[in-house]
Amino acid sequence: MFFAKRRDSVPEVLPTHIGIIMDGNGRWAKKRGLPRFAGHKAGADAFKRTVRYCNRIGIRYLTVYAFSTENWARPKKEVDAIIELLRDYLRDAENYKKENVRVRFIGDISVFDEEIQRRIAESEQESEDFTGLRLNIAVNYGGKAEIVRAVREIVRDVENGSLLPDAIDEEAVDSRLYTRGQPPVDLVIRPSGEYRLSNFMIWQTAYAEFVFMDVLWPDFSPHDMNRALWEYAGRNRRFGGVK
Ligand code: FPP
Repeated sequence: MFFAKRRDSVPEVLPTHIGIIMDGNGRWAKKRGLPRFAGHKAGADAFKRTVRYCNRIGIRYLTVYAFSTENWARPKKEVDAIIELLRDYLRDAENYKKENVRVRFIGDISVFDEEIQRRIAESEQESEDFTGLRLNIAVNYGGKAEIVRAVREIVRDVENGSLLPDAIDEEAVDSRLYTRGQPPVDLVIRPSGEYRLSNFMIWQTAYAEFVFMDVLWPDFSPHDMNRALWEYAGRNRRFGGVK
């Protein structure tokens, strides 16, 4: 994919909802002879930087993939390190408060300990009325699991008579996803040179544009975001029609 070398400006046409697969932390650390944990720590800094930048330029929705349902397969030490970064983020409420960012967690958070669950609930409640960027942090999240969860809810509603089988439409699924009420994803950014969706927002990205970049996530900067935004602005989105 071709990108201009450096972009210092933001295009006029911006995506409403951006999804980011924060990939490449391990390789970033390896290149420097550091433990993988150091890559995740630098990745958490890149995450905070990116949230601040998206908020500043007026992006409305940002969803980041922080921990997938498949990531449990990693060594326990690495999983624990990522969970501790999440805890650190939650303990410092200023992370979202001073940015006026409205936070929501998507994924099955019931697996986390009491402190994390309580702080997640607090962060969502405290930021409920914030008017800046709406940030979804995907933890223990999988797109397939999210759809299965919606299907179960639909079946329950059919069984209790509140939903008729013939009334099951796309909206019925949409309104039962973690992202209910939010617009679909317009742009998915995946750094680190991998070309996969990895079970990220598989329903919400049905018509998304994809921008794959060679930069490793801990190095991802506002310039890289601008490059992705310019690439997006140049795409011709047809949504299955002709334009
Ligand atoms: C993928 O890189 C990254 C992850 C599985 C973890 C992402 C987590 C963070 C950026 C920290 C999140 C923190 C907060 C506060 C939300 P990888 O380890 O697969 O990299 P590799 O492919 O180079 O090995």
